[in-house]
Amino acid sequence: MTLSIRPMAEKLEQLHALDPIGKIIGGTVRSVLKPGAFKDLLSGTWLGHPVHPALTDPTIGFWMGATALDFLGGKRFRPAAQRLIGLGILSALPTAVTGLSEFADISSDRPRRVATIHGLGNVGVLALYVASWRARRKGHHFRGVALSTAATGLVSGTAYLGGHLSFGLGIGVNQTAFQEASGEWVSVLTEDELPQGKPVLAEAENVLVMLYRKDGRIYALANRCSHQGGPLNEGDVEGTVVECPWHASRFELSDGSIVRGPATTPQPAYDARISGGRVEVRRRP
Ligand code: FES
Repeated sequence: MTLSIRPMAEKLEQLHALDPIGKIIGGTVRSVLKPGAFKDLLSGTWLGHPVHPALTDPTIGFWMGATALDFLGGKRFRPAAQRLIGLGILSALPTAVTGLSEFADISSDRPRRVATIHGLGNVGVLALYVASWRARRKGHHFRGVALSTAATGLVSGTAYLGGHLSFGLGIGVNQTAFQEASGEWVSVLTEDELPQGKPVLAEAENVLVMLYRKDGRIYALANRCSHQGGPLNEGDVEGTVVECPWHASRFELSDGSIVRGPATTPQPAYDARISGGRVEVRRRP
C-alpha cells in the first residue's frame, strides 16, 4: 500500500513554474557562499555527513514538544510550551542557513523544484511559529495554539519533502555508495592510452574510474564525485589534487581524501599499475 503523499511530491518535481525562483535563490546563495572553510562548515565536510538534516531534528523536536504540551500538559505547562517554540525559532536559523547552502548545490531541475517548495514552505512555518510566540507572549494563548498547530501541520509536509529530496532524489547521499568492486586487478587501458598529465576515463567492473599519470606514478579515483555525481575527469588537476567541475570539491588523487568540500565523503581510491603493457586498477578496501 502506498499513501498518496509520494505521488504529490512527484508532481512537484514536474512544476516547471518553480524554475525561475529556484534558480534565482540558488544563484544568489552561490554568489555569497563561495567554496571554502565556511561553505565546508555549513555543508558538513567536517562531520562526514551533510549537517542540515541533523539540525532539523532539534528544531522540529522543540516545536513538536510544544504541541504535545499544548494538548496534553494543561495550563501550568503554557510557559514551557512558549519557551520550546522560542527555542525552535532560534534553532531554525542555522538550520535554514545550512539548508540554503545545500539548495545552492542542487544542479538538476527536479530536486530543485521540490527543494524550492520545501524552503518556501519552511519560511511559512517559521512565520507561523513567530506569530504564535508573539500571540502567547501577549496573553492570547488560544490564538497562539491555533497558529502553532497550523505550523505543525505545515512542517510535517515540508519535512516529508526534505525526506523525499534525500531518499527519493538522492540529494545529500554519497553518490559512490553503490559502487561495488571485487578487489581484483582489472585491466582497463593500454599503457599508450594514458598520457602524462591528462585525466583519462576508464571503466573497471562497471564503475567509471578517472586515471591520472604524473611523474611515473598512476593515480586512480572513482570518477563520479561523491557529492552530487560530477565527472572528475572533466575537472582541473593541480599537483595531485583534482577539483570537481560542478561545485569545486577537491580530492587528493593518492587516497581520495577531501581537500575541500562541499563533499562530505572521500572519493573511492584505486591502486594502479602497469602490467604487460596494460594499465590495471584495483579498488582499495
Ligand atoms: S558534484 Fe558537487 S563537488 Fe562534485
